[in-house]
Amino acid sequence: MERCAHGAAARTFGGMTETVSNEIRVIPPSRVWMRIFALVYNPFLWLGEIAGMRSRRSALLGDARGRVVEIGAGTGLNVEHYPDQVDELVLTEPDASMRRRLTRSLQHTGRVARIVDAPAECLPFADASVDTVVSTLVLCTVPDPERTLGEIARVLRPGGQLLFLEHVRAKSRFLAACQDLLFRPWRGFAGGCCCNRPTADLMRANGFTVAADDSVWRGMPAIVHPLIVGRATR
Ligand SMILES: C[S@@+](CC[C@H](N)C(=O)[O-])C[C@H]1O[C@@H](n2cnc3c(N)ncnc32)[C@H](O)[C@@H]1O
Repeated sequence: MERCAHGAAARTFGGMTETVSNEIRVIPPSRVWMRIFALVYNPFLWLGEIAGMRSRRSALLGDARGRVVEIGAGTGLNVEHYPDQVDELVLTEPDASMRRRLTRSLQHTGRVARIVDAPAECLPFADASVDTVVSTLVLCTVPDPERTLGEIARVLRPGGQLLFLEHVRAKSRFLAACQDLLFRPWRGFAGGCCCNRPTADLMRANGFTVAADDSVWRGMPAIVHPLIVGRATR
């Protein structure tokens, strides 16, 4: 059994990860709310998907290759966009309610993939065993982004890539101030999502070279409008 390299204790609680270490203790959303969140997730994103997100997912995932591991796969909105040529598709998701919907999405599309119950901070894959890691709207939510990026770096093969599509802290001072103001209520509503996280900076600080385009997540509240889409390598 492959195990988490850093040895942190990580467990699922109410479907979300509570990572316990000397540095952090993130109180997860309640189990009941996470069930509701999984239920309303696709309807809540619907407008944003037809207003551009769906085509962004498709363009990004067209570059997936080899052994692919998606972190926080959620309800499976990416599943239909993976090229048939990928060698293996593994979808990780720590939340049980999300995993049920992910299973249905696989059945619906007929796509072959393995679903794994694991937090991104503790990926059950060997070092240097993955060609592509995919993260869409997940690095905003993981309780410990540094640890997650460390895990992604660990599992990627030399020459491997992280494909990402993430909403991030706004460059506009006004919008960033709104993100800071609404951080708590949004996090409570959106299953632990941090709307003001400077994810590209975190990637660079954790040793990744980042090639990203800025975009706007239309059809969603303004605090999650600023998007980055691209590829990160080590
Ligand atoms: C906003 S949803 C994004 C779902 C999907 N990736 C998408 O693009 O629609 C965030 C996802 O991250 C998952 N998540 C929460 N904590 C996580 C963790 N520690 N590791 C991996 N995924 C996590 C949630 O269960 C949820 O499915």
